[in-house]
Amino acid sequence: MEERIILLLDMDAFFAAIEERENPHFKGKPIVVGADPKEGKGRGVVSTCNYEARTYGIHSALPISEAYRLCPQAVFLPVNGALYAASSQNIMEILRKYASLIDQVSLDEAYLDISFAITYKKAKELAENIKGEILKKEKLVCSCGIGPNKMIAKIACEKAKPNGVLVVNPKKVQEFLSPLDIQEISGVGPKAAEKLKKFFGVEQMTIQKLKKASKKDLQALFGVMGQGIYERARGRDNSPVKAEQQVKSIGKEHTFQQDTRDGEHLLSVFRKLASEVIKELKKENLSFKTITVVCRFQGFETHTKSKTFKVAFQDYKMFEREATRLLLKFLVENLKPVRLIGVRVNISS
Ligand code: TTP
Ligand code: MG
Repeated sequence: MEERIILLLDMDAFFAAIEERENPHFKGKPIVVGADPKEGKGRGVVSTCNYEARTYGIHSALPISEAYRLCPQAVFLPVNGALYAASSQNIMEILRKYASLIDQVSLDEAYLDISFAITYKKAKELAENIKGEILKKEKLVCSCGIGPNKMIAKIACEKAKPNGVLVVNPKKVQEFLSPLDIQEISGVGPKAAEKLKKFFGVEQMTIQKLKKASKKDLQALFGVMGQGIYERARGRDNSPVKAEQQVKSIGKEHTFQQDTRDGEHLLSVFRKLASEVIKELKKENLSFKTITVVCRFQGFETHTKSKTFKVAFQDYKMFEREATRLLLKFLVENLKPVRLIGVRVNISS
């Protein structure tokens, strides 16, 4: 593959930054966006928080009750999805002016293939220009990572946060990766990391150490995934920036006031969630390919089950039937009381 230059742009504290923009009097205060904390009795989670709130140890997916305990004086705000989606659209429109090959991976994050910049110096200038335009038009701050592939761009972007641009040119890739924790590599989650540490008999493990594992070792540990981990440990990632791969998802979830095993109640709430998803699908006349059901049990143990069809469907009855089937599987397999249920569909556009 020819040498590429890939840029990853990710908005800083996205939902919280929009709230700050809309409510300037909150500036400088810790802001937490997510479920209602109900003075510490709330049962949902933090969607995100600004960097002030992060200094208290608050982060995405933390139980909201815990966030309240860490910083009761924070400004707690509900999720205003429509507002964030509108801002996201404006940002993506700006990005499309700078590059034709863009892969939006979430509301606030997109990869741009900017190989046309030819040099990393030009690539950095481009990133600064994009940041400037987003700040001017949307009054929001973001960070950019630039590297020879998506993986390096992604890690560089995390290191650039907040409000930074980090360039890792191909000659610096090994030096950049070596001291990092193995979990920085996509595909190495907490479980894989434990396996690797056990294999090497160490407590902490860097990517440099991971490079000591042979392809065979990694295949023995992780099967077919081993090859990918071997490559990524060396900074290699050929995955293209695919503009057509935009995946949109529509999802709804509900946290119960009290954990429940009441089947009728669970099913009626679930049907309501499914009908809300169907309503949105119908509104835009969308087909779906994957259905995912999420179930969080007592103790915050969260599981998902998905079903992917070969072709995209518009059969909403079928959606409800399949989604309910997935939920029932959960309830049969796990007898713990349920804290949250949700259903989501992915749409390939
Ligand atoms: P992120 O880009 O992961 O987080 P962020 O933009 O808030 O902060 P930063 O990138 O500076 O670290 O996610 C983008 C938005 O997606 C985030 O603002 C809120 C939402 N989100 C959730 O609702 N739940 C989550 O668990 C995560 C990770 C994000
Ligand atoms: Mg972000």
